[in-house]
Amino acid sequence: MRLYSASLRAFAESVAIQCYIAMRSKIALFAILILTTLTAENAPIPPKQNWSFAKLTGTFDRGSLQRGFQVYKQVCAACHSIKYISFRHLKALGLSDAEIKVLASQYQIKDGPNDDGEMFERPGRPSDYFPRVYANDKQARAANNGALPPDLSLIVKARLEGADYIYALLTGFKDKSDFKGSPGQYYNEYFPGHAISMAPPLSEGLVAYNDGTKPTVQQMACDVTTFLAWASEPEVEQRKQLGLKVLMYLLVMTGLFWVTMRRIWKTIR
Ligand code: HEC
Repeated sequence: MRLYSASLRAFAESVAIQCYIAMRSKIALFAILILTTLTAENAPIPPKQNWSFAKLTGTFDRGSLQRGFQVYKQVCAACHSIKYISFRHLKALGLSDAEIKVLASQYQIKDGPNDDGEMFERPGRPSDYFPRVYANDKQARAANNGALPPDLSLIVKARLEGADYIYALLTGFKDKSDFKGSPGQYYNEYFPGHAISMAPPLSEGLVAYNDGTKPTVQQMACDVTTFLAWASEPEVEQRKQLGLKVLMYLLVMTGLFWVTMRRIWKTIR
């Protein structure tokens, strides 16, 4: 529910502000608040996708998760960290302990201080978290034209339309001749304001999937979004399973209580 037209928004806001000034009405103040929230982002609503994990009994497609991690590792990891994910978490993707050990050892992790008081680097262990890509935010901005590539571990939760938005963003780059962004900015249909400082990260055939899936832009976007949705909420499968069990339990209890109530009231009547 968003108003698209900027002029309509400005008009509605100025009316609400006038009402507030004239009447000091709390309702007008409330209307201003609602209007600013509803119209904060002037980007189209991303189309709904049919995510396997969004359903009531939803689970993550393991193949898609693994391919998505591959896309993250080979493409997005050049700029984006996933600092809340540790190597051992990847067991949920179907990686074996041995594979995780090998993967972790390919990363250099800062540790220490040692007995001389110095920090040092060592190969990663399964219990380590994915290291940062840049030493700090300033370095990240310096390398990206002043824009900060956000950490992606919670990005699906951090955006209003979640996975639909991430997918739409990754597939929403367009060549627009009348686009006037500053240098290093690209037109994206779904990014608020449309000028994003991230070059289109995906292109046809960018990664080589080893399960025979065709690496189209849409496929890679879908896989990496599935991976990021998992990263944002790794416990979603257990949560849904437990939720279903609780619902069943409550249903049975409701039946039992109803029968009990009937019996008790029968003798009283
Ligand atoms: C060359 C560096 C680079 C690569 C590679 C890259 N990004 Fe980005 N990304 C950026 C920068 C810089 C921004 C910040 C853009 C801005 O604020 O205008 C960004 C922003 C984002 C955002 C946040 C958009 C928002 O709503 O704020 C998402 C999501 C994202 N990238 C996902 C990805 C994914 C997924 C990949 C891999 C397929 C990827 N990026 C690859 C540099 C990169």
